[in-house]
Formats: sequence, C-alpha cells, structure tokens
Amino acid sequence: MNISKHTFRYPFSERVQNLTSSDIRELMKYAIQPGFISLAGGMPNNHLFPVDEVEKIYHRLPRREKEISFQYGPTTGYPPLIEVLKQYMESKGIPMDDHELMITTGSLQAIYIFTYLLAGKGDSILTENPSFIGSLTLFQSFGIRMRGIGLDRHGLIPEQLENQTREARITGENLKFLYIIPNFHNPAGIIYNKERRVRVLDYLEREKIMLLEDDPYNELYFDEEDREMTRPILAMAPPSLRRQIVYVGSFSKILGPGFRLGWMLVPKEMYRYAELLKQSLDACSPNLSQIIANAFVRQGYMEDYLKRIRPEYKLRRDLMLRVMKTHFPPEVTYVEPKGGFYIWVELPEGIDAREILERTIPEKVVFVLGKSFDPSGQSVNKFRLAFSNVDTADIEPAVRIIGNAIREVLAKK
Ligand SMILES: Cc1ncc(COP(=O)(O)O)c(C=O)c1O
Repeated sequence: MNISKHTFRYPFSERVQNLTSSDIRELMKYAIQPGFISLAGGMPNNHLFPVDEVEKIYHRLPRREKEISFQYGPTTGYPPLIEVLKQYMESKGIPMDDHELMITTGSLQAIYIFTYLLAGKGDSILTENPSFIGSLTLFQSFGIRMRGIGLDRHGLIPEQLENQTREARITGENLKFLYIIPNFHNPAGIIYNKERRVRVLDYLEREKIMLLEDDPYNELYFDEEDREMTRPILAMAPPSLRRQIVYVGSFSKILGPGFRLGWMLVPKEMYRYAELLKQSLDACSPNLSQIIANAFVRQGYMEDYLKRIRPEYKLRRDLMLRVMKTHFPPEVTYVEPKGGFYIWVELPEGIDAREILERTIPEKVVFVLGKSFDPSGQSVNKFRLAFSNVDTADIEPAVRIIGNAIREVLAKK
C-alpha cells in the first residue's frame, strides 16, 4: 500500500472545528530549546519540587498501599484524601454541609465537568477578561459564547458585570454561569479585595446565577498579612447561596502538575451527574498520585513545603519588579502581585505586544501575548510575564531584553 496516495477523509465531528491551538502551546516549542529564557510557562519551578519528600513517602508506604496505588480506585477519589481535603476546606471556613468533595484529574477536569453539566453550544457565560487560557479554550470547544468582564487591581469591574448581564438578558441569551479566579489571578496577577467578593455574592443572589470559583493559587501568598485576603468566596457566602457555587482547587501549584490532581466541591444536587460524567472520562484519577498526595498532607510535609516555596516565589517576584523598574519605560504599567506566578503588563494603546515578542525571540527570550487570554481575542497591548519557573540569574537579562524591545517599538510610533 502506498501511504502517500492515501485519500481517506476522516469523518470529524462538528465539535472539532471549535478546537484551536493556543499561542502558549506554540511558544512552548521555544521555551524548551536550550539557551532560551522562558517567562512564558505558567508552571511551578522545576528545582523546587518536593522530590526528596516524595521519595521518602513512597519508600515508607506499606506494601498494601503500594499495591493499591497501582490499581484503579473509586471514581470520586481515594477516600482518605477526600477526607483530609474536606478538613482542609473546613479550615478555610467552608462548611461541608452543602457540597461533596470530588477528586479530579487536574483542576482543568473539574472545570470541564462543571461546564459539561451546565452549558452547551449556544449558551452564554460570563468570564473575566483576561482569563485562564485552558478554561477559555475549553469553553470555546463547547461552542459556548463568552462575555468578557474587565478587571482592575481589585477584581472584576462590577459595572461591566452588570452591563454584560443586562445585554445578555436583552438578547435573550441563556446565561449559565460566572467564572472567576479570585486569588493571584492567571494571568492578571491580582487578588480580589473583600468589597469585590461581596459584590460577586450580591450579584449571585440577585441574578440567581451559578459561580465557578477557580482557586489553584490560594496558598501562594507572599506575606502572612495577605493570607486573610485569600478567603474563598464560598467561605463568605451565606447558607442560602452556597449551593450556587462550585469551588475548584488544585495540587498543581503546591505539589506538582505532574500529579494531575485537583478537586471540586460539588453541590449535592449536581454530584451524581458529576460522578457519572467522570466515570466516562477516566474511570478514576491516578491512584498513585492520590496516595502520595494524601501522605504528603497528612504527614505534615505540605505545610513545611509551602513555607519553603513561598519565599522562593516572593524572591523571584521582587527581583522581577526591581529590574522592571529599571528597564521598562514609564509608559508601561503593571500591578505588583501579592502572590502566585504572574505579572500582567500593559503597553500604551495602539502598541502590539507581538512586535515586542518578535524582537525578543531572536534574543532567546519568550513570554505570552495578552491576546491569548482575551475571550474575544482582541486585546493586543498586553502580555504576561511568569516569574515562577525561571532561574534567578536569568531574570535581569530577560527583562532587559524585553525592556529594550519595548523602547524600540515605542520609538517607532
Ligand atoms: C487559573 C487556573 N485554573 C486551572 C488551572 C489548571 O490546573 P491543573 O489542571 O493543573 O490543576 C490552571 C493552570 O495553570 C490555572 O492557572
């Protein structure tokens, strides 16, 4: 058989048309090439992973648990891990009366399950602009219409939320939920203040709409005094509103994305459907990961580990801000993040961040264009710098190269 003459046409489903590749995936090609400094990937630092602790944990597991870890497990998660996460959620002020906790294969799967159960082709949702690219691509793949709500340094802009809702109601759209990332936002780096969290709750009550609260960076605050600000919106909700909120957490930033572990708090009425759907997706989340994560939390490693990594990320944030002050022209603005991995940079109106990236790639420095995080794909004058997975020695040269590129592009205008 001559393969090159093969003319078979694959009968792709209609859904395939909604699948698109993100700029981030394209950029990853560069990010992994030797000699490149990448401020692109929104990932934890390779050198900070708790490799030794995990080795110790696995080594000390009783033979029986090692065997279980190789086996399939319950669809909704490894029961001891569910238990310890429930206690953790309670310690954050979330009573576990209205929700069931389900372990998921990464928190992206939790977002998938939530979306699958609530919204489909032609439905509308409200999402922050900018927002996490993984969720945006997922919503898009479902054929969902996204209405973007702008952010300022304190959270989503309430007037835009009201306006977008009103417009959606006028045009008779089926508005299904609001999706937000209140703590150390990806990509905007901001944290919602208390007033904005309360505004979101008021909104949910008034509009009788569901909230998807995505919180993977919750523990990554840099200063103890900011810890109180990270209190989940679900923890602040009155009992009458709790069942309108689905909360999603993740081990990806506090243990490692390679574990592929997240969790979701599912209102009791939704739980059965969530379980059935997950059964068809992956039967169960990785048992090996769950057993290790369970021991990591229960044996006190998590707390020690968080104490170790917070100052590491803070150090990188401080370094980055210091050199940005030196190398970036004053026309460029950004919010100083109090936690997480990101700095969101805004260029003057009319400047295209792509022109800057085109100048930095030959100099072997990459970052992500803001356009990727815009649900309407329009905003061109913004970009995201991730300080999390970069060597401290590389921060100054990378920022200098970006700063020079910005000056060159500004000078042309
Ligand atoms: C805001 C946000 N939500 C969800 C995720 C998905 O994380 P995971 O599926 O690894 O838990 C990420 C990952 O970068 C994220 O930034």
